[in-house]
Amino acid sequence: MILGISGSPRKMATEYILGEALKMLEEKGFQTEQFSVRGKSISPCKHCDFCLKNARCVIKDDMHQLYPLIQEARGFVIATPVYNGSMSAQTKMVIDRTRASLAADPKVLRQKPGMAIAIGGDRMGGQELALQQIHSFYILNGMIPVSGGFFGANLGVTIWSKDTLEDAKKDEEGLRSLGKTVRRFAEALQWLEKVDSKEK
Ligand SMILES: Cc1cc2nc3c(=O)[nH]c(=O)nc-3n(C[C@H](O)[C@H](O)[C@H](O)COP(=O)(O)O)c2cc1C
Repeated sequence: MILGISGSPRKMATEYILGEALKMLEEKGFQTEQFSVRGKSISPCKHCDFCLKNARCVIKDDMHQLYPLIQEARGFVIATPVYNGSMSAQTKMVIDRTRASLAADPKVLRQKPGMAIAIGGDRMGGQELALQQIHSFYILNGMIPVSGGFFGANLGVTIWSKDTLEDAKKDEEGLRSLGKTVRRFAEALQWLEKVDSKEK
């Protein structure tokens, strides 16, 4: 299963574009799940280190809906709105709280491909930095960060929403980055499947 996570508190462009990415992956034969922070109660990590000793998070909130999905996922698509030039606080909270997943199984994310989506109201409002923040999370945890490729280069999906869903849907260049990145991501997943089947 490929897990898509939306770090937007609204049912707007971030959820929509993530949904499109997952739809494209389904069309390529992958099973997907979409999780959104919208309407959920998720607190920041408090660095109590309970998870390091007990392999689970002590904070009782909606993050516990996500933990089993993280365990099951073999690839990740993290989508964030751009807030003040970087990822949203909601996205960062989810990322920090994966510490409990890693405490339970340090290899839970290892060698799993990850792609990133960043949606900004402005054309150059910080989408690339937000993508790099997500990629840093992937790199730090031994994952395989996937870009849209070198010709017509992009680091992932960048959308210019002009603060509306309608304009996000009309961002041709952004949608091109979506198609390219999903293609590369699917290739990475298929390549890993082959490696896994040879090792078995
Ligand atoms: C607190 C806040 C800060 C924002 N800062 C930026 C910004 O720095 N750059 C940008 O391009 N858009 C910024 N925006 C606009 C959002 O990125 C944009 O409206 C985006 O489409 C929101 O995602 P959503 O459609 O999923 O809600 C900001 C929005 C909010 C609420």
